[in-house]
Amino acid sequence: MKYYIRTFGCQMNQHDSEFIEGMLEKLNYKSAEKVDEADIVVVNTCSIRDTAEKKILGFIDSLKLIKRINPALKVVVVGCMVSNAQQVERLVKKRGHINLILGTRSLNKLPYYLEKIRENEKTIVDNDLSIDVPEDRLYKRPDFYRSFLTIMYGCDNFCSYCVVPYVRGREKSRSLDDIVQEAKSLAADGVKEITLLGQNVNSYGKGLKEKTDFADVLQAVSSIDGIERIRYMTSHPKDFTDRIINTIENLPKVCRHFHLPFQSGSSRILEKMNRHYNREYYLDLMKKIKERFPQATLTTDIIVGFPGESEDDFQDTLNLLQEIEFDLAYTFIYSPRQGTPGAEMSGQIPLSVKKQRLNALMDVQNEISLKKNKAMIGKKYSLLGEGASRTRPEVQSGRTEGNKLVHFKSQDDLTGKFINVEITDANTWSLRGRLL
Ligand code: 5AD
Ligand code: SF4
Repeated sequence: MKYYIRTFGCQMNQHDSEFIEGMLEKLNYKSAEKVDEADIVVVNTCSIRDTAEKKILGFIDSLKLIKRINPALKVVVVGCMVSNAQQVERLVKKRGHINLILGTRSLNKLPYYLEKIRENEKTIVDNDLSIDVPEDRLYKRPDFYRSFLTIMYGCDNFCSYCVVPYVRGREKSRSLDDIVQEAKSLAADGVKEITLLGQNVNSYGKGLKEKTDFADVLQAVSSIDGIERIRYMTSHPKDFTDRIINTIENLPKVCRHFHLPFQSGSSRILEKMNRHYNREYYLDLMKKIKERFPQATLTTDIIVGFPGESEDDFQDTLNLLQEIEFDLAYTFIYSPRQGTPGAEMSGQIPLSVKKQRLNALMDVQNEISLKKNKAMIGKKYSLLGEGASRTRPEVQSGRTEGNKLVHFKSQDDLTGKFINVEITDANTWSLRGRLL
C-alpha cells in the first residue's frame, strides 16, 4: 500500500505530516512519488488566509478525477480547515469523495479509522479540539541532522485577525520532562539542530503543575550533549521577557536569530489587532535585542490592510520597517477569516489598496534585505550543511546561525556537517560562499 501526503501551511503542519507519515510507515505503507500511484492521499490543510484555502480546495477537487480512475483510493483531509462543524459541512457538501476528516488534535486516530473507511461509504469526521494531544507520537524525520520538537499546542492569544485559536484549540504546554526526553532521544539519533515549535513559544508553561517557563526549556535543551543549535518559533513580542533575553545571552547554542512578528507599526491598529503591545514597546524590545546581540539576524511578520488601517497607519508600518532594518520580513495581505473579530470590523480595506501597500512594503524590505546580505560579503560563517540542490548536484547549501541560506561548491556531501565558509556574493534571498 502506498500513501501520498500533501502539506500546506506552517512548520506545525509540516511536523504533523511527519507524524502522519510515521504512523503510516509503521503500518507498512510506503511513500508514493506521485499522487496517482497512491492508495491513500492525505491532505494536511491550512486556513490562515483565503489564498491558502482556495489552493487546497483546488487540490482536493482534483482528487475527485483521480478517484474516478481508481475508485479504491481513500482521501483523508486533516488539519486546520476541518476543525469545526461549519467548515466540515461546507467542505463535504460537494465533496463526497472525502473518506475521512481529522482535526488537528485527532491525527493519532488515523490507524483506527483506516480500518473503518474500508467498509464505510460515508465521510467519517473526528475533529474534537477540546482533547489533549497524546504524548506517544512517532515521527518520520526527513533529515537525520535536524528536527522539530513541539513544546506546546494551540494558542490562547486571540489576535483579532487570526484563525489559529479556533482551529488548533486552547494552549497546552507539554511537560518539561517529556520535552527533555524527546530532545535526548533526538540527540542520541544524531540530531544536531532542534527547532522548538509552538504558536507562542514564549508563553510556554502556562497551566503546568510545576512552575516552569520558556527560559527553562532553552536551558534544559541546551544542556544536552550533541545538540549544537536551538531554534524556536513562533515568538510573541508581548511575552519576550528580559528573563528570556538574559537566558539566551548565556546559552551559545541558542541561535542568534530573533523572529518577532510586529504585524503593524501603528499602535492604534495593534490595539485593534489585540496584540497587547504598542509601537514604543516593540521598538524598545528590538533596541534591547540589537544592543545585546549586535550580530543577530532579525526577522518579522507584517499584515497590511487590517480593517481601519489608514494611510498614516501604513506609513507607521513602513517607517518601523526602515527604522529596525530587518534581515527579512514575511509580508501578508489581511485576509478576513470567518469567526474572527477582524472579519466583523468596519473599515475593511479594498483589495487594490492592500496590494499597493504590500508592494510598497516589499520594495522597501527587499532593498534592506539586499543591503544586509551584501554586508556579509567577505565575512566568515559556520554553516550546517543541507546537501546538494536537485538540479545542480555540485552546488550545496547550508544555513548560518541566523538562518541565512548560503550556496557553495563542494565535491563532498556535507549534509548535516558543520562547515566554515567565506561569503563571496549576496542577493536578496540567498548568499554564495566558498569553503574554507
Ligand atoms: N490575514 C493575513 N495574514 C495573517 N496572518 C495570520 N492571520 C492572518 C490573516 N487573517 C499572518 C501573521 C502571522 C503569520 C503566520 O500569518 O502575520 O504572524
Ligand atoms: Fe494567531 Fe496571534 Fe496566536 Fe499567533 S499569537 S497563532 S497570530 S492568535
